[in-house]
Amino acid sequence: MTTLNIKCIHDAAQRLWEGGVLAFPTETVYGLGADAGNEDAVRHVYALKGRPASHPLIVHVLDMEVAEHWTTAIPAAARVLMSRFWPGPLTVVLPARDEVSRVVTGGQDSVALRAPRHPVAQALLKSFGGGLAAPSANPFGRLSPTEAVHVRAYFPNLTVLDGGACRFGLESTIVSLLESSPRVLRLGALPISALREVLGDMVIGTGETGSSSPRVPGALSTHYAPVTPLIIVPLELLEQCAETLMAQGQRVAVLRRLCHPRVSRSGAMLSTIPSFFLPDNPKAYGRRLYASLRDIDRFGFDCLLVEKLPPGEAWWAVNDRLARASTQDISPNLALKKIHGE
Ligand code: TXA
Ligand code: MG
Repeated sequence: MTTLNIKCIHDAAQRLWEGGVLAFPTETVYGLGADAGNEDAVRHVYALKGRPASHPLIVHVLDMEVAEHWTTAIPAAARVLMSRFWPGPLTVVLPARDEVSRVVTGGQDSVALRAPRHPVAQALLKSFGGGLAAPSANPFGRLSPTEAVHVRAYFPNLTVLDGGACRFGLESTIVSLLESSPRVLRLGALPISALREVLGDMVIGTGETGSSSPRVPGALSTHYAPVTPLIIVPLELLEQCAETLMAQGQRVAVLRRLCHPRVSRSGAMLSTIPSFFLPDNPKAYGRRLYASLRDIDRFGFDCLLVEKLPPGEAWWAVNDRLARASTQDISPNLALKKIHGE
């Protein structure tokens, strides 16, 4: 915690006690926090985000002991997960106590709990003492902020505790423990392989079609979206698609991994196509993704072509966010047909 002293944290906690709303850093993304026990403050968070009241918020707590105040039962699997991954980028969904406000839970009888690892978040929670309801600090449907400056761009009048760039850059992984088998509701910063080491096999999927399925905004098909229309295109077609669109007068950029040389199949440099690069490593790619999309938005391109990423498990969370950010994800043949207007 380099930029914030104890007084800042204490003042922030004081504001929260008084029903205020402020943004704070976590290791995943910045959160828009309010006292989870104060319904007016929580309503203010929904209003600021423009988020429907039926979409529940995560309650951030210091540790498992505080979590016990929010849930009626911590089953064995949850206890194992929390001991192993808290504090960290894991959110667990558990049965809510009757006293937990249904404004926080979006009307459901379950509550999502997470103990963040970021030192500023921990200091704030320690000073505040209770639970902080905090969605990502972005207007509904937009990219989550991974730096304080991103939050300020969305909410110029909001107090933001600056804790630097977020270490993970993707939201927490959400696991529901309401049923007999743990169910992953949202892929995220904690990889499935890490969960599997502890839990063995588990159900992955949001169960979006079931009427009793929990509402998870991150599970809507368009979410985490940049302003620039984004199309996912296989690497071998990236250049051709970009050139075709440019020939039609469109301002196009491409986003690809650094591992691929900036040379086309014909051997020519891709110098005329504005290109942005991210690392060829799922963790590092995820850490930079939102910030890059935000930077690219500033140029006002008509379209961003993003290289289709490998399907392997290590890339799942990043693929999930890209798919939600995209206006379309197209197979090689379709890509060219669409671009040629066929
Ligand atoms: O990394 C993160 O999780 C960040 C940081 C700030 O902690 N928070 C975050 O919050 O991403 P938000 O509100 O943007 O996404 C929380 C997700 C939503 O998809 C919400 O529907 C789901 O958690 N959620 C919350 N309570 C739930 C519940 N009781 N059952 C099922 N899903 C729930
Ligand atoms: Mg969010």
